[in-house]
Amino acid sequence: MQFHPFQTLQGRFTLYLSILLIVVISILSYRAISMQQVLLKNAIVREGKALAESLAISCTNTMLYEEIGLVEEGGLLDNYISDLIERRDLDIVYAMILDPKGEVVAHNSLREVGQVYQDEVSLKALASWSTLIQDPSPHLLDISTPLAISTKRWGTLRIGFSLESLRRETASLLFKYILYTSLFILISIATIAILFGFITNPLKLLSREMDRVTTNEDLPSIRVDRRDEIGALQRSFYEMVKRIREGEKERERTQKNLLLTEKMVAIGKLTAGVAHEINNPLGGILNCIYHFKKGGQPIEKQIQYLDLMENGIKRIQKTVVNLLEYARNPNLEKTPTNFSSLIERTLSLLEFQIHKNQINVEQEILATLPEIRVDSDQMGQVLVNTLLNSIQAMPNGGAIKVSLKTADERLILTISDTGQGIPEEILPKVFDPFFTTKGEGQGTGLGLWLSQGIVERHGGMIQLFSQEGKGTTVEIQLPVS
Ligand SMILES: Nc1ncnc2c1ncn2[C@@H]1O[C@H](COP(=O)(O)OP(=O)(O)OP(=O)(O)O)[C@@H](O)[C@H]1O
Ligand SMILES: [Mg+2]
Repeated sequence: MQFHPFQTLQGRFTLYLSILLIVVISILSYRAISMQQVLLKNAIVREGKALAESLAISCTNTMLYEEIGLVEEGGLLDNYISDLIERRDLDIVYAMILDPKGEVVAHNSLREVGQVYQDEVSLKALASWSTLIQDPSPHLLDISTPLAISTKRWGTLRIGFSLESLRRETASLLFKYILYTSLFILISIATIAILFGFITNPLKLLSREMDRVTTNEDLPSIRVDRRDEIGALQRSFYEMVKRIREGEKERERTQKNLLLTEKMVAIGKLTAGVAHEINNPLGGILNCIYHFKKGGQPIEKQIQYLDLMENGIKRIQKTVVNLLEYARNPNLEKTPTNFSSLIERTLSLLEFQIHKNQINVEQEILATLPEIRVDSDQMGQVLVNTLLNSIQAMPNGGAIKVSLKTADERLILTISDTGQGIPEEILPKVFDPFFTTKGEGQGTGLGLWLSQGIVERHGGMIQLFSQEGKGTTVEIQLPVS
């Protein structure tokens, strides 16, 4: 049997495990990257803060000395700022000194000197009496520290650090995590596939073997050599097939015996019937011969004996003719036959008896009946037998209904009568050879038996339903093709 890859255990397991791996590794990676980001930022903050605070001391001193006139006003602050900007180890975007009102006293960009900064970041920096760390944008870190001694304040030093390196670092980390995760998942899938192969390959082999077994008489050629769970499965399967095979053989044996028994019973019944049907009239005939031999019988008696002998011989002849009929032609001479005209012919053949017994015949025949291939002589025999039975069951008049229809590629003929019906206890015997309820010399009890044989040779079946006192229905089903 072929499966879609994701229907197999291997496929499903790999899919679920891959999803699980992707989810777990993504969560872990996200957390690790976030932590790494925090650590990196903290390092920049620490370093920036230390730098700003140490530079603030020099700047404060310079501003104090300038105020009290110890040094001349002359670009010292600008030197500090430009030294700072030139440092390559830190990614500094700007550095400036603001006076308490926000006016730029020194700046790495000379154009800014003299401007007054009133933006939010600047105002917060000017108002703070300790080192302040602000994030004006995701890629920028602003560290400001007051230039003051005690409560005397000359201004504020502000340094802007770029967080671009942090972003780059994070991106490269992310890339590495994705790469490793993909590699890990690929390796996992390969490992799962290989590991599962150990389990599923023997299972596939077993399943192939199972498929083969249904179409093969032999025992499966599976090697039962494993000492694990799969080995146990192989063994159970092997044993099961063995048991099934034995069961099948046993069933075949029983069926053969049963068929043989059925045949013996049938032959027994037939022989007993033949013996009875021939022996009885023979006994009568022998009796007549005995009286003839004795002689001295009046002529009327002799005529009576001759009549009796004639009747006896006719009865034996009828039995033999019927038996020959059955044995005569097991091969059917099938020709395309119009069944409704066959019924018509049979009814006109029996017209005399029908009329004599005052029977009303009704027909219900489907207009579009297919032609059917049957041996019309033998099938005619079946119709005569069944219709005669119905006629004989209605000595004081009644009705016969013949209906013909098709269903599921079969022709269904039913013949119902309103005759005396059949008692329940003898219903199972009516198809037995020589079973008859009709008086001595009237019926051979072969009619239904013969008819059943003919219908079955046509691949059909005949059934009889009856209710005592109400009537009988015979149903004959024949395959159309
Ligand atoms: N339509 C029927 N109504 C009542 N009984 C029936 C009907 N058909 C069959 N039987 C019963 O089944 C028995 C067996 O029928 P079957 O046709 O085999 O033999 P038979 O009619 O007795 O003898 P034969 O057919 O040789 O004249 C009959 O004796 C009768 O009791
Ligand atoms: Mg009959």
